[in-house]
Amino acid sequence: LSLSPLKDKTVLITAGPTHEPIDPVRFIGNHSSGKMGISLAETAAEMGAKVNLVLGPTPLRPTNADVNVISVETAVHMHQECEKLFSLTDISIMAAAVADYRPKKVADQKIKKADGGLHIDLIKNPDILFDLGNKKSATQVVVGFALETENGIENAIGKLHKKNCDLIVLNSPSFNTGFGKDTNEVTLINRKEEQITLGLKSKQDIAKDILLHITDHLLPK
Ligand code: C5P
Repeated sequence: LSLSPLKDKTVLITAGPTHEPIDPVRFIGNHSSGKMGISLAETAAEMGAKVNLVLGPTPLRPTNADVNVISVETAVHMHQECEKLFSLTDISIMAAAVADYRPKKVADQKIKKADGGLHIDLIKNPDILFDLGNKKSATQVVVGFALETENGIENAIGKLHKKNCDLIVLNSPSFNTGFGKDTNEVTLINRKEEQITLGLKSKQDIAKDILLHITDHLLPK
């Protein structure tokens, strides 16, 4: 095994949540900490890659100074940064928990409380993984994540094909896994729909396994 299996490779990783503003002080978001994507970025850099990490709002940062961090707030901003970097990228790993929708209009001023309910119109955000997967060249590898609460395998395989990924990493939120936790338990599913289940381990070890799977099985030889 080479000590720098990703030498001369450029890796693009998305991580963390996105925040979709409602007004100057409020947003729609989720509980993603960015830990899994940050671990992937650190590990890819240790394996010799040039790493760009497009990171949504989270206080966490990679400890490895070689990782180029591009901080973003919204899905639209994350999408723009990924589009800029994609043509020079060998491996893209979309680990961010991107908000599916954003408020149609962002209020200029803080929305005042009034009698009755409040209705906020939402519109669809761009699907970054779908866009990159469906325009990748034969030598580019694109990897997605799926977080499912039911029918995990079936839904993950659906996403793999729809978004044209080379690999999808399925995780399910439970006691020791998922948002904010230091450990994870995932199943890798490739285009032949073969499943490789990685037992409960640290997000660093999961990151290493994912990246080694990519270098051993998915990168052009
Ligand atoms: O469809 P779903 O959101 O479950 O798909 C999850 C995968 O798609 C993750 O890899 C996530 O980073 C990516 N995704 C994205 N842009 C979106 C929504 C999801 O890149 N707008």
